[in-house]
Amino acid sequence: MKYSDAHPVLGPVHDGVEFAANSPLQIHLDRAAKLSLSEQIRSSIARAIESGLLPPGSRLPSWQSLATYLGVARGTVQTAYERLTDAQMIEAFGAKGTLVTARPGPAVNRAEERPPSAFVRTYQEMRTGPAVFQLGVPALDDTPGKVFARARSSNLLKTGPFSSVVYPDPLGERRLRQEIAGHLAISRNLHCLPEQVFITSGYTAGLGLVLRVLGLEGRKAWMEDPGYLLTRKGLELAGMRPISVPVDDEGLDVDHGITHAHDAALAVVTPGQQAPLGTTLSLRRRLQLLQWAAASDAWIVEDDYLGELQLGGRAAPALASLDEGKRVIHVGTFSKTISPSLRLGFVVAPLRLVAAFAEVATALAPAPSPVVQLTTAQFMREGHYVRRVRRLKRLYSAQRDALCEQLDRHDAAWTSAGLALLVPLPDGALDVEIVREAITMGMAPSPLSRWFASLAWTRPGLLLGVATAPETQVEASCRRLFEIIDRYRERAPRLT
Ligand SMILES: Cc1ncc(COP(=O)(O)O)c(C=O)c1O
Repeated sequence: MKYSDAHPVLGPVHDGVEFAANSPLQIHLDRAAKLSLSEQIRSSIARAIESGLLPPGSRLPSWQSLATYLGVARGTVQTAYERLTDAQMIEAFGAKGTLVTARPGPAVNRAEERPPSAFVRTYQEMRTGPAVFQLGVPALDDTPGKVFARARSSNLLKTGPFSSVVYPDPLGERRLRQEIAGHLAISRNLHCLPEQVFITSGYTAGLGLVLRVLGLEGRKAWMEDPGYLLTRKGLELAGMRPISVPVDDEGLDVDHGITHAHDAALAVVTPGQQAPLGTTLSLRRRLQLLQWAAASDAWIVEDDYLGELQLGGRAAPALASLDEGKRVIHVGTFSKTISPSLRLGFVVAPLRLVAAFAEVATALAPAPSPVVQLTTAQFMREGHYVRRVRRLKRLYSAQRDALCEQLDRHDAAWTSAGLALLVPLPDGALDVEIVREAITMGMAPSPLSRWFASLAWTRPGLLLGVATAPETQVEASCRRLFEIIDRYRERAPRLT
């Protein structure tokens, strides 16, 4: 039997080795499997067609030949072919043989596929890890994992979500909303009703919900510069125009915002610990910001991503706690205090927006899995959460002290930046390149320049996360990091 088609699929059937080695179609039969042999043959061929391995026009062997090769009954292959024919994936053309049909599929889609955007590539680079000095992730520690596993295996799942087949509350599980409201009152001096708390898949989903509710397309939004990449992108995707507002040692420069974009409809800020510089927004600036918002009928989003997780002393109260005009929408997350892989956060809506939030959450952004929510509620109710935050603060303070000591030994200038230490580099230094090299050695400091949108303000530097710098590794990691920096210094002495 000869296969002379432009897309030969199988070699001569009597030569099984050639068949197996050269063919794009690999059929491995498991005779012990529950799945019938004809179904195994059918799904192997279907997968090869769907993935584009067998493009349209490819000729399949006759079912008799394939049966001989596979050592199965002819009827078994015939059944598989009939099912593929029914699914319009192949067609028999008499003497011409059986061909893969021309149909829109992944082979066509692949040609249309675009490489990921620069934004997605940058984000993918940011989330590599876990690695030493990585920013924005908690210490590797399995305590919540164990407690969560216990909560899951307790009665929670029997009495909780799986005891019911009705849809869960899209606004969030009542028990978690209550826990969060209670916790915010104590830890952030923010008093709200559980009804004001909407459960989301982390900050990013919370921001998406807020922007949907506010519907400010076409309007300007103040955005800290340097600031969080995802916030800027989120504003752009919501059709807003982000206006860069610089940050100094009192936090967001409100005067600058008023001078350059007094007519903005929104400001997104990280008042607790500015991301990434770590500055706490001063009381003077907080009042100024609230006054501007009241006078301009603007909204403020408070990104409270670190919450009470502040090293050295107590975190300042939430900006929303000062907000009598109720223009501040507070967004929190469990990413830093429990784990980013929970994908759990919340929005505290001003009372007058609660109905609008409920509508959008119900139709477009329902709360994540009740299993995760109820387990987190239990974690909070039993006191694990408060203990964990306290423990993380102690651990991170010790790690930060050890890191400071090492930086001093290397005569490096540094400043505190929230849960990181910032090592500034001279103007023009290629912090992104230094980080790329560091990543190959298991370290992932964050390049400061990446956090800037305005080229004129961009400064290079390395943000060294303290949560991911265990004391046992910090000496060796600093040595390796400074070897990389020194190599760059030798190549471009003016720049490092
Ligand atoms: C400024 C800022 N906001 C929020 C987050 C957390 O977002 P999420 O809750 O989506 O993990 C981060 C994480 O790094 C951040 O840096």
